[in-house]
Amino acid sequence: MENKRYTLYEKVAEDISHLVNQGTFRVGDRIPSVRKLSQQMNISITTVLEAYRLLEDRGLIECRPQSGYYVRPSFSNTTQPAISKPHARPTKVNINELAMMVHKNTRNPELIQLSAAIPNPELLPVDRINRTLSAITRRYRIQNISYEFTPGSKALRVQIARRALASGYSLTPDDLIITSGCQEAIMLALRVICRQGDTVAIESPTYYNFLQAIEMLGLRALEIPTHPQHGASIDALRYAIEHNTISACLFIPSFHNPLGSCMPDEKKKELVEMLSEYDIPLIEDDIYGDISFSYQRPKAAKAFDKKGNVILCSSFSKTVAPGYRVGWVVPGRFKAEVERLKSISSIATATPTQLAIAEFLANEGYDHHLRKIRKMYAKNTVSMAEAVSRLFPEGTKVTRPAGGHVLWVELPKCVDSLKLYEIALNAGITIAPGMIFSSQQRYRNFIRLNAAMWNDKIKEAIATLGRLVKGVTLQH
Ligand SMILES: Cc1ncc(COP(=O)(O)O)c(C=O)c1O
Repeated sequence: MENKRYTLYEKVAEDISHLVNQGTFRVGDRIPSVRKLSQQMNISITTVLEAYRLLEDRGLIECRPQSGYYVRPSFSNTTQPAISKPHARPTKVNINELAMMVHKNTRNPELIQLSAAIPNPELLPVDRINRTLSAITRRYRIQNISYEFTPGSKALRVQIARRALASGYSLTPDDLIITSGCQEAIMLALRVICRQGDTVAIESPTYYNFLQAIEMLGLRALEIPTHPQHGASIDALRYAIEHNTISACLFIPSFHNPLGSCMPDEKKKELVEMLSEYDIPLIEDDIYGDISFSYQRPKAAKAFDKKGNVILCSSFSKTVAPGYRVGWVVPGRFKAEVERLKSISSIATATPTQLAIAEFLANEGYDHHLRKIRKMYAKNTVSMAEAVSRLFPEGTKVTRPAGGHVLWVELPKCVDSLKLYEIALNAGITIAPGMIFSSQQRYRNFIRLNAAMWNDKIKEAIATLGRLVKGVTLQH
């Protein structure tokens, strides 16, 4: 009897899996409710519940309270890279030139852009935000062209403070400062905390602009082994702290660039508590936090901060309007210094775009917009990952991001991604070579791809890249 019941719910789970694999239910679709499926298949509610629990355990579906069961993005046919193994020593950074060279090509409209982590313009609320900006310009004629002195627009700070609850922490509008994008927030944090020659712990690999900032400020980077799904190793970080003098930790705990990893809550808590114990500030980049492939965003590490030791940096560049240059910093115990530095270095952030984003958030369209883009980014990222696994040579590995829109691809060892970068440019495609994501010249056989868009042109570009990589591997 026991055995028979087990077989039945497993069979139901298999039927649903089959429907998902065949495309009857796609990423983000709601599958039949428990009651409905029980009636349709003439089976008990308990059996359906057990089948759905099994599918949840397998990561195929997720339960959204008061809403039902939905298909999650699935990377079933891909193999992901292993946890990184950088050297456990601080290193001077020297990637600026290489990074600027790659960056320059991101402005070339003739190229198919797979390198920069630019959001998909079709997934930005283009008309709504521009209409809001025009309305603001008419409504606040004088205020609109006046200084909005640091800490920035109160209306916008109120909206950002309200939204912090979704990330698991509470804020008052006075706890945050508006910046020109997330990158300015990061720079302010680094400049307030670190002095020349200091060491900053970073995930390995990491976003190349972090490395460029570290290089420009005369700091050293200490790369921490990072798992492509669960983020930086806390044990390795503890070891690094015990054997080096580390001034700050600069991490992207939710949907890391380039890995797409997301630290589970317990790990975020452990990270924040450990750093607080050693009195090392955590600079948290949360720019991708809202682009979760699940129905809700994860908690920020800031949610576990009891002593103001976490400086959270973020912006609306990935979700609303990168060109508006509106970001913010929650500086915790460094508020006075960050505010002073922001005021001295740029006096204020541009006014009209702050007011437009404040209005956009106040009109409550943001959550609806997020629901739409989460589904689309999940779909596009899964599609590109599957195409890479299918079209690139054997031995290629690709990450399984839980959010954001970039993929980190490990190519066979014989592929030099810098050479591949040149070959791809000749074929009209730009990619980000792995070396710019490390202070230690690592990741020579890795590339980062922007998966924000998935259309015929991009499909073709991935197929071309696959052929080029195969060509390189055949020469060895
Ligand atoms: C991890 C990360 N942080 C910061 C930035 C820069 O953000 P912003 O354009 O808001 O300055 C980016 C942009 O790609 C990013 O990927």
